[in-house]
Amino acid sequence: MSFGKMSIANGFLTKADFKNEYFFNLEVGFCQNCYMVQLTELVDRNKMFHDNYAFYSSTSRGMADHFKEMAEDVIGRYGLGTESFIVELGSNDGIMLKHFAERLIPHLGVEPSSNVANIAQGNGINTMCAFFDEKVAQDIVSEYGKADMVLGANVMCHIPNIHSVVSGIKLLLKTYGLLIFEDPYLGEMLKRTSYDQIYDEHAFYFSLASLSWLFKQHGMEIISVEPQNVHGGSMRYTVANIGEYAVTPSVESLIDNEKFYGFHFHETYDSFRDNVKLSRSSLISLLHKIKKDRKRVVGYAATSKSTTVLNYCGIGTDLIEFISDTTPIKQGKFSPGMHIPVRPYENFTERYPDYALLFAWNHMKEVMDKESNFSLAGGKWITFVPEVRIMS
Ligand code: TMP
Repeated sequence: MSFGKMSIANGFLTKADFKNEYFFNLEVGFCQNCYMVQLTELVDRNKMFHDNYAFYSSTSRGMADHFKEMAEDVIGRYGLGTESFIVELGSNDGIMLKHFAERLIPHLGVEPSSNVANIAQGNGINTMCAFFDEKVAQDIVSEYGKADMVLGANVMCHIPNIHSVVSGIKLLLKTYGLLIFEDPYLGEMLKRTSYDQIYDEHAFYFSLASLSWLFKQHGMEIISVEPQNVHGGSMRYTVANIGEYAVTPSVESLIDNEKFYGFHFHETYDSFRDNVKLSRSSLISLLHKIKKDRKRVVGYAATSKSTTVLNYCGIGTDLIEFISDTTPIKQGKFSPGMHIPVRPYENFTERYPDYALLFAWNHMKEVMDKESNFSLAGGKWITFVPEVRIMS
């Protein structure tokens, strides 16, 4: 399905940048042979991940808690210690690796965006600035030796040359080594019509079916799957060399589930497309109605996901006054494509709007907990996942 002309999801820009803004055709396709759902047009990675990358993992308390839990879980479960060696792909500002560093567990983060990599390095987290692939894996092995574990959180789905990444991981890991990674789960996206997961950085929308096929080609297999609440519904996969570990029943159960819901058939994706179109028309009509009633709407959180929604629905400053966001690098800039001003969070609290359009719906609990004053002041939340509605 095509979402039409789209800009870079994290490409927040100044007025001076408007004339040179980059656009591409955002489209996803489904392969009936390998069951992969993926973008059909890819954006040059240097346009997305660079020294001005606007996504800082540590800005969300929920994510900080999640990564602490993930680190403690794998350290405890696999008995990692000062003799181990852990590599994290896409380690961002070190939000997860810091828990390994604190325990003096030898580690290395591989992160292509230098601004976030520098923050991690400054905090004493061993980080190299690179796009991970087979060549980088070889360099790491030469310098540090093989790894006990490779971790990745919301990163594998970002890397188009996935075969080079998987070969690199295989090369980097010891025979009994494990790859543990998590990414947004296709099943959640289909169930919730959360089409805002689809944007330039997400080259792939993984299911167990597509990943099993991918790893099999590299002599590896998924040995367990664990659903996660982050990023609007993710799946954590543990992967090992074929035959090295027992496969847990969680894998078979998810395979059955994917068969039941028709992940192998294009009709499933046709219905998703129909649901996305319906979601768009109801969001547009709701915002027009509110506008007619002369009420104020402000966007809450300039998430990368919001770029898809705003551009696909054609929502601009005629319908949304500004987007409030806590990340300093985004403040004072404009949203990609639709050029809605991004303002500091204080602009939201100083003069509450009538409605807040919740782009950070995946952080719903965290947001609701801290914004009780908005509701007390009579403010209302609008969400579009799993369906467009004003929340009571
Ligand atoms: P994402 O993780 O869904 O991409 O969202 C990250 C953006 O949302 C980041 O710019 C910070 C912003 N944000 C807020 O402004 N307020 C909040 O309460 C939360 C949770 C996120």
